Amino acid sequence: MEALASAPAKVILTGEHFVVYNKPAIVMAIDLRAKVRVKDNFENTISIFSNLGYSGTYRKDRYYPEKGGVNGKKILDPMKIAATSVLKYVKETRGLLIEVDSKIPVASGLGSSAAVVVATVAATGKKLGVDLSKEEIINLSLEAEKHVHVNPSGIDQTISTYGGIILYKKNEISIIDAPHNIPIIIGNSGVPRVTGDLVSKVRRMTTIYPQITKYIIQAAGLLTIKAVDALKERNFQLLGELMSLNHGMLVSIGVSSFTLDNLVYAAKRGGALGTKLTGAGGGGCIIALCTTDRIDTVMEEISKVGGTSIFVKKADRGVVTWLEN
Ligand code: PMV
Repeated sequence: MEALASAPAKVILTGEHFVVYNKPAIVMAIDLRAKVRVKDNFENTISIFSNLGYSGTYRKDRYYPEKGGVNGKKILDPMKIAATSVLKYVKETRGLLIEVDSKIPVASGLGSSAAVVVATVAATGKKLGVDLSKEEIINLSLEAEKHVHVNPSGIDQTISTYGGIILYKKNEISIIDAPHNIPIIIGNSGVPRVTGDLVSKVRRMTTIYPQITKYIIQAAGLLTIKAVDALKERNFQLLGELMSLNHGMLVSIGVSSFTLDNLVYAAKRGGALGTKLTGAGGGGCIIALCTTDRIDTVMEEISKVGGTSIFVKKADRGVVTWLEN
């Protein structure tokens, strides 16, 4: 039997970065997913094949590339760590063959690495005959995410595991019962970035200007609380305004860029109710909240300035597992 799992990507509606400083953030799972298949490997090695063009084998922690050269190690390490954490957790030693098929753009703030890791953990557990609980999946996934950046808030793993919309604070989650249709357009700058670098940049700002950043962080926390009310009341006008205000805060802590601001203004020109960068910033994506009659114009304006746009839907299902012959 082969074990499979699929897990969704995410967009952060408000509160990224500030969530690292114990403030709440609103995060929504979206209908772009990563699928992972785990099979028997009769050699005592972990072999990983990714549709991103990399494959290789880990033999006693040494990486032997098969496709994509040694650079593949950096990409495949989180999956190897994820599978190894599960093996250790269930006290098993055995070889595994892991196939990754992800539809999520990488290094763009949509939580692609977390979705792949969450699906790897869940599929590995399933292969070993264990249905891991949501909490176990999140904890085991965090091991791998720590390898990607040192101080992760855990927001990506949590939403990818749960699905839906969540109000997330470090180690605290509440599920937001929000309307099904939250029209969000993603504008991808195509500029890759490293989350850890942006998290460190903010850390530097808080060290140099503690008296100023303290108030920005506090205000961002209050903004998210207000945004939850807006979501619950289906007040998209207010939610949009708050998202744009949140973008200003992210600009002030240094994580936006000319390209991202350009995309934000393009979405505004197209008639978005609100728009902001999403995820770590520096590159990656913006999101735009808009009424259904403005979807086409917002997408058009984004492509005019060189962005790629995708209209996404909320994914109510988080990680799911199943077996195949
Ligand atoms: O994974 P990204 O790039 O979407 O960023 C995650 C959100 C941050 O708040 C920037 C980092 C974190 O660990 O919460």
